Amino acid sequence: MNSSPWWKEATIYQIYPRSFFDSNSDGEGDLPGITSKLDYVKSLGVDAIWLSPFYTSPNKDGGYDVANPRDVDPRFGNLEDARELITQAHKRDLRVIADIVPNHFSDQHEWFQAALKSKRGSKERERFHFYDANEDGTPPNNWISLFGGPSWTQVEDGQFYLHLFDSTQPDLNWENPEVNADFEKTLRFWIDLGVDGFRIDVAHGLIKEDVLTNHPDPQGLSNALRLDVAMDSEERNALLLTVPYFDRQGVHEIYRKWRKLFDSYTGREIMAVAEAWVHPPVNATRYVRADELHQVFNFDLLTAEFDSDVLFDVVERSISLNATVNALPTWALSNHDSPRVASRIGDEQARALALFVFGLPGSAYVFAGQELGLPDGQLQDSDRQDPTFFRTNGAIKGRDGARVPLPWSGDTTPFGFSTAKPWLPISQSWKDLTIENELADPKSSLHLYKNALELRKEFLVGAGGITWLESSQHGHKSDSLLSYSRGSITVVMNLSDSAKECDAAGKLIIVSGGTVDARDGKKVIPARSTAWFLT
Ligand code: NOJ
Repeated sequence: MNSSPWWKEATIYQIYPRSFFDSNSDGEGDLPGITSKLDYVKSLGVDAIWLSPFYTSPNKDGGYDVANPRDVDPRFGNLEDARELITQAHKRDLRVIADIVPNHFSDQHEWFQAALKSKRGSKERERFHFYDANEDGTPPNNWISLFGGPSWTQVEDGQFYLHLFDSTQPDLNWENPEVNADFEKTLRFWIDLGVDGFRIDVAHGLIKEDVLTNHPDPQGLSNALRLDVAMDSEERNALLLTVPYFDRQGVHEIYRKWRKLFDSYTGREIMAVAEAWVHPPVNATRYVRADELHQVFNFDLLTAEFDSDVLFDVVERSISLNATVNALPTWALSNHDSPRVASRIGDEQARALALFVFGLPGSAYVFAGQELGLPDGQLQDSDRQDPTFFRTNGAIKGRDGARVPLPWSGDTTPFGFSTAKPWLPISQSWKDLTIENELADPKSSLHLYKNALELRKEFLVGAGGITWLESSQHGHKSDSLLSYSRGSITVVMNLSDSAKECDAAGKLIIVSGGTVDARDGKKVIPARSTAWFLT
């Protein structure tokens, strides 16, 4: 395991439980399925797993609609299965991060059911955001849900409740002490069961202000807030500056209290990573001040083009902003909410970028299947399950493409994932991308990830900051190479479509694709490829 604290430069493997491995032949992945594959996870060279939600849920938003945050949904197993997963992970020196969803509950949670049965102004309604309709009967404001359609749904007595996401995900009222107390109970519940940390869903959303005020461009704002909607970055950033319901000061009070709770478990090093997509980027650093959370996701690489100026800016900004609060950045190329990196920027580019990122200081997150170079699944509209697809009448296809189950083995779909029909179809074209096939091919993406993570651990974890060697902004040697040195390693990425020479010294230890030749004392880096040199 890494040096203390364990999370600082950990590589964390995100598992979407429904899509990982099906142990009971119902077409959906489950907790025992994950436990049965922990040796594979360990063999990747990662330090921890982050499990997307597996709690009791009607599954209207892939489990991010939680009906009971302190129990396991029967589709995934039971609490004993969760305990066993954690025990087996720990036996292999793998830490476990649970995904907690404090911004909203499912409408099936007993609190919301009680609120529906209670009167306006009741203590049951006070746990959510219930408001009267405007005089003309319209909702309290014009906000549009991040999944499309209005952010408000009307109940029988005429009041509306706020839901930033699906109508089945009523937002909780964090001004209410009962909400605070209940979440502290949930955190303790999972820590006591053995988890080592939390990924905090919509961490920037808990406190709402100006709930009765309209927004000038609600639809634009809703699109800007979605990682799977392409938008010009200036337009996106301008809209992100206007969000009325994210990144309010009050959220930091909550995390200060949570930090005390985490730290009260002496000797456990409980960590938390915030899902907080905020603008301007400097605001993200507030979540990782010394008395708040440990990490905050950097979402920039999920949308950044494969371009040296863009990538230089993202990396430089993230490292330097985090340094102002003595924190290290996080790096993620894919997750369950965004198009898979191989589909978004191309296969070779995705490998090159992964190798570039694995050398950087901070924590690297890998979304299960990324190590195989999986593209997005090609789905028919009739396969789709993401609420966004339905709430936008199909205008936005949604995130199902990134959530197609993993291909494990064999020549025929569903490639060992399940003996039943999988919840999303796995294309027969993924035949060469199975774990079994990639393990047998030393040139596969899987081997690249395994080798890179081993080298990262050996030479880079704890090696301190980077020094830029080639970038258009630093020294202007080339506009197609980005290169830095860190410890004994020099990392060179060639972003162009032709091979490029560079001066990097040292012995080649890994390359993301192609072969590195030597010419006149220089190294020739293949097109769309990254190489590491050891001095
Ligand atoms: C962010 C999660 O990653 C996403 O999958 C979910 O739909 C929303 N938060 C709402 O919980």
